[in-house]
Amino acid sequence: MHIGGIRQCPWAELVALCDSNEELLRQRAAEHGIPAKRCYKEYTELLARDDIDAVTIGTPNHLHAPIVIAAAQAGKHVLCEKPIALNTEEALRMVAACRAAGVRHMTAFTYRFVPAVRFATHLVRSGVIGEVRTLRSRRLQDWGTRAIGWRQVKALAGTGEVGDMMAHRLDYTQAMVGRIARVSGLLRNFISERQGADGTVQVQDVDDWAGVLTEFTTGAVGVYESSKICWGFGFYAKSPDDLDVHGTEGSIVYRMEEPHVLRIGRMGESLENVPVPAEFLLPVGGVPGPLAGDPLQTFRFNEIFEFVDAIRHERDCVPSLVEGAQTQAVVDAIGRSSEERQWVEVPVIE
Ligand SMILES: NC(=O)c1ccc[n+]([C@@H]2O[C@H](COP(=O)([O-])OP(=O)(O)OC[C@H]3O[C@@H](n4cnc5c(N)ncnc54)[C@H](O)[C@@H]3O)[C@@H](O)[C@H]2O)c1
Repeated sequence: MHIGGIRQCPWAELVALCDSNEELLRQRAAEHGIPAKRCYKEYTELLARDDIDAVTIGTPNHLHAPIVIAAAQAGKHVLCEKPIALNTEEALRMVAACRAAGVRHMTAFTYRFVPAVRFATHLVRSGVIGEVRTLRSRRLQDWGTRAIGWRQVKALAGTGEVGDMMAHRLDYTQAMVGRIARVSGLLRNFISERQGADGTVQVQDVDDWAGVLTEFTTGAVGVYESSKICWGFGFYAKSPDDLDVHGTEGSIVYRMEEPHVLRIGRMGESLENVPVPAEFLLPVGGVPGPLAGDPLQTFRFNEIFEFVDAIRHERDCVPSLVEGAQTQAVVDAIGRSSEERQWVEVPVIE
C-alpha cells in the first residue's frame, strides 16, 4: 500500500526497497522495476544512500523503533506503521530521535484518510452534532484459527487486537473528540494456539478480543469492541467496521463498507444518507481528481500524500509520531486496566 501511494504521488519517487526476505524482495523489485543495486536486505545499507529523503516502515512492530531511530539519525523523514512501538517508552524514544534530527515524522493511522472519516471528523469538530456525549466503535472480524505470524507473538507485536485494529479507532476518535483521559479495558486471549500451513501448532500469547470504556477529557464517553474471533463475520474490508457518534444536537453514523457516505440524524428525525463532499474525496496536497482504484483501498494511498505534502511544505505530518505515541499510551493503559481490573489514567504525551 505504501508503494501504491508513492507511485501515484506526483512529488515522490520510489528509489529503493528493503526486505529481509530475499525472495519477496526480488518479487517486489521485479513488480516495481527497481534494479538489484537498489534493493537491500539490511535497512542500515539502504539508509546510507544519500539520494533518499524519506522512508516508510512497514515491518513487524518490534522493529519499528530501531528502524525509525536509525532512519532519523540518518536524516531521513519517516512514516511508520501503527502501532508505532511495543510500549509508550519506546514510542517516546522514537519521537525524541526524530525531533533531535529535525526530520518529519508520521504514524500510518490509515483510517483517518477514509473519506467518510475525514468528513465525520470535520463535522464533529465544527460542532454540527453539538457536543459529543457518547460514541461506539466496532471492528469485528473472523480471522479463523490459522497462524498469523508475528501478529500472534507478544514479543514481536506488543499486543494483539487492541494494538492491531483498535489502535486506528482509538486514534481517529481522539482526532474527532479530543484526548482519552482514562480507560477501563478488558483483553482476552481466547485462542492460545494457531495452526501453521505446514500443520505446526503455534502459540498465540496476545489478545484476540478487546473491549474498552473510555472517558475523554471533554467528558464524552466511548465504547469500543474489536475482535478477530467473530466467526462468520468475514475479514478485512468485508467485515463490520463501524462508528456511531452521538452529540447534544444529533448523531453521525459511519460504516466502512460505504466509505463515501455518512448517515446523519437529529432528535426525532430519521437518519439521512449524506454523500461525502468532493473536497474530502481528493488527495491531500492539491492533486486534482480522486485517487484511482477501489475506494475501499485508495484511501490508504492518501497517507503517503499527507507525508510527502508535509515534507514539501515543512509542516508537521498529521498524524505525527506524537499522536502515535498518544494512542500507544492509551493501548498500554488498556492493558494495565485489564490486568489490574480497574480504571487507568492515560498520560498526556507532548
Ligand atoms: N495502517 C494499516 O492499515 C496497516 C495495515 C496492515 C498492516 N499494518 C502494519 O504494518 C506493519 C507490517 O504488517 P504486515 O501485515 O505488512 O506484515 P508482514 O509480515 O506481511 O510484512 C512485514 C515485512 O517486513 C519484513 N521484515 C521483517 N524483518 C525485517 C527487517 N529486519 N528488515 C527489513 N524487512 C523486514 C518481512 O520480511 C515482511 O515482508 C505492522 O506494523 C502492521 O501493524 C498497518
